[in-house]
Amino acid sequence: MSVGRAIPHDSAELHVSGEALYCDDIPTPSNTLHAAFGISTIAHGRVREMDLSRVGAAAGVVMVATPADIPGENNYGSVVHDDPIFADGLVQYAGQPLFAVAATTYRAARKAASLARVEYETLPAILDVRSALAAESYLMPSERIVRGRPHERLAQAPHRLRGSVTIGGQDHFYLEGQIALALPQEGGGMLVHSSTQHPTEVQSIVAHALGTSAHAVSVQCRRMGGGFGGKESQAALIAAAAAVIARKTGRPTKLRLDRDADMIITGKRHDFVADYDVGFDDRGRIVALTVMLASRCGYSADLSAAVNGRALTHVDNTYFLEHVEVISHRCKTHTVSNTAFRGFGGPQALVVIEQVMDEIARSLSLDALDVRRANFYGVGERDTTYYGQKVEDNVIHEITDRLERTSRYRERRAEVAAWNAGNTVIKRGLALTPVKFGISFTATQFNQAGALVNVYSDGTVLLNHGGTEMGQGVHIKVAQVVAAELGVPLAAIRITTTDTSKVPNTSATAASSGSDLNGMAAQAAARTIRLRLVDYLCEKHDVAPDEVLFADGSVTVGARRLSFREVVAAAYLARISLSSTGYYRTPKIFWDKAAMTGRPFFYFAYGAAVSEVAIDTLTGETQLLRVDILHDVGASLNPAVDIGQVEGGFLQGVGWLTSEELYWNERGQLRTYAPSTYKIPAASDWPAIANVALLERAPNHEETIHRSKAVGEPPLMLAISVLHAIRDACAAALPAGAAIDLPAPATPEAVLRAITPLAPRVFA
Ligand code: MTE
Ligand code: HPA
Ligand code: MOS
Repeated sequence: MSVGRAIPHDSAELHVSGEALYCDDIPTPSNTLHAAFGISTIAHGRVREMDLSRVGAAAGVVMVATPADIPGENNYGSVVHDDPIFADGLVQYAGQPLFAVAATTYRAARKAASLARVEYETLPAILDVRSALAAESYLMPSERIVRGRPHERLAQAPHRLRGSVTIGGQDHFYLEGQIALALPQEGGGMLVHSSTQHPTEVQSIVAHALGTSAHAVSVQCRRMGGGFGGKESQAALIAAAAAVIARKTGRPTKLRLDRDADMIITGKRHDFVADYDVGFDDRGRIVALTVMLASRCGYSADLSAAVNGRALTHVDNTYFLEHVEVISHRCKTHTVSNTAFRGFGGPQALVVIEQVMDEIARSLSLDALDVRRANFYGVGERDTTYYGQKVEDNVIHEITDRLERTSRYRERRAEVAAWNAGNTVIKRGLALTPVKFGISFTATQFNQAGALVNVYSDGTVLLNHGGTEMGQGVHIKVAQVVAAELGVPLAAIRITTTDTSKVPNTSATAASSGSDLNGMAAQAAARTIRLRLVDYLCEKHDVAPDEVLFADGSVTVGARRLSFREVVAAAYLARISLSSTGYYRTPKIFWDKAAMTGRPFFYFAYGAAVSEVAIDTLTGETQLLRVDILHDVGASLNPAVDIGQVEGGFLQGVGWLTSEELYWNERGQLRTYAPSTYKIPAASDWPAIANVALLERAPNHEETIHRSKAVGEPPLMLAISVLHAIRDACAAALPAGAAIDLPAPATPEAVLRAITPLAPRVFA
């Protein structure tokens, strides 16, 4: 059976041979135009005058598009319509598109875009979270979840600590930047090839921008060169601008952001600050906790309500919090509109609670692992989250116990201490951190999917579903599911471009739920066809349904054995439909917005990691020496793909927490917009020792697709172990009992500041 096997990604060979088609590789008609955005240089202000005459007169330029050229709505915001495609008078971040220019070549468009003369009337800008909090600059109402009597219990707690957490943002740095190709069709139609996680939303936004209807717009995506959340909502900006130009000129239009433009124009992970107040007992068990979360949303809503909603429900991580209050402020700033990024607010919340655990442990001189374990959700007791969902599938005890053993945590703790006692320059640190992550879109309505399966009369199968491929392997997993359902070899299945005209009204491929949702929908479609074939065979051969078996490309019908191909060919002649749609919606989930309680997640995914680092106390540089990971993916659909997701997610998290630093200057301009100044992990940052394993014999207790679990986002949070290993090493470099003031990312500068708290702040 194809399900559960370690099968290579369907495009693996195409990726390495260069044959895989990305949006920019699609052959374009010879009259194709290339577009570029002209962007604002100020963070907040009004455009007093915009002189585009030199732009329009530049070599090769065919059209300059401004708000006046948009036939429909000048907006690409999905939830709230507060995202202009081109700023119309009011500028709200440095880098905001003001216009687009289309020329006969890409270079000509880029050159022309820089020739605009714009005069602004500048307005005061709020650029960071603390300033926004001080000014109560919020994009949407703050939200709060309370359970028990946290304030009262805090006052009575045996021990109490207050602290703050600073967590940076992150650029998606997908290898393929944002891109769309819009091709005008007859009768007012528009075909858009878009590098998007959300073809349906691109379709809807392009239709609104063009002043037309959804049925006139088709959006296709064969694959993305990475999305990581960055192409969930904001791919629509690029597609809409390209479509507006294509409509106006009647010519195919490609809009591709180069790295600089992509980093300056499009949103990132939300940076957060948090203040906490925790009360605990002598064993480090939390008695009461209050947390204030505040995030930088940027100038518009985008997905910020949902991102912060996920943060609001992830402060517990794997810990039972009895008396707790969490408040979430969604700060409006004059910076780019932040968006989805792997983990979607969850990782930031986990960083907060893990710092709380670490501080408790340090204040009681206990091992942080013991404090963490003392606070774990119980099994059958202390098992209800502060938003009312029962934790029914708790495997964190098993994971932690096993990992503690296999990583030799205790022995290595002693080895690290011995090393630190004997070395003054290089200090080492060790940490084990757990992960629990809720699976389902927090907005219940997105938890649905559709698929279309066509069986051709030669026995081959064409598979289409609403999920998009961004490297994560959703296509191979869904193909494995369909192959299993029809009992055919994987080679019989062909996976096709995601296309809004084949499967409509889809959700974004996001929230790690791509295979969960589309796997179920595709299984339903294939099952419908199989059941039709069973009916037909029962009648034809006078057998009972349970005498018909599909496996290995054959169909057993009573005593007969036929090939799948023969059965299908005969069914066609008998006028049996060989094509079907399939549909799935996640059961059991609900959310009461007024009470802030419910069951937002179908289930939880778990994992834990032990990381060991070395820091150079003279330079602040850090090195990850070893990582041990044990991660829960239920009954894996494809262990090869899942291990890839665990490793990739982990290292992406390491980048977020150690080296990727976004720096805006005092004028609100992003200064780290290229790999020269924005450092993502390289292959050389992978630790010399890495033991990565999936939790075995742990099928999902819920009826998910073949009892698997989602894997896309949760492993990113395993990287918090690296941040804590660095904290541990910093502690070894500081006098005993000294406070550790280490933000994320723990860059060399931040580490150096943390371990030399009294030194002049030359890096400040
Ligand atoms: N893996 C790769 N290679 N590239 C990506 O862009 N995106 C991540 C994750 N893994 C991503 C990835 C994010 S943010 C999500 S939500 C999931 O994949 C989406 O895919 P899935 O739901 O099919 O797991
Ligand atoms: N995760 C990812 N993307 C989303 C979500 C979510 O929970 N909700 C809306 N878009
Ligand atoms: Mo992933 S942040 O849900 O696209």
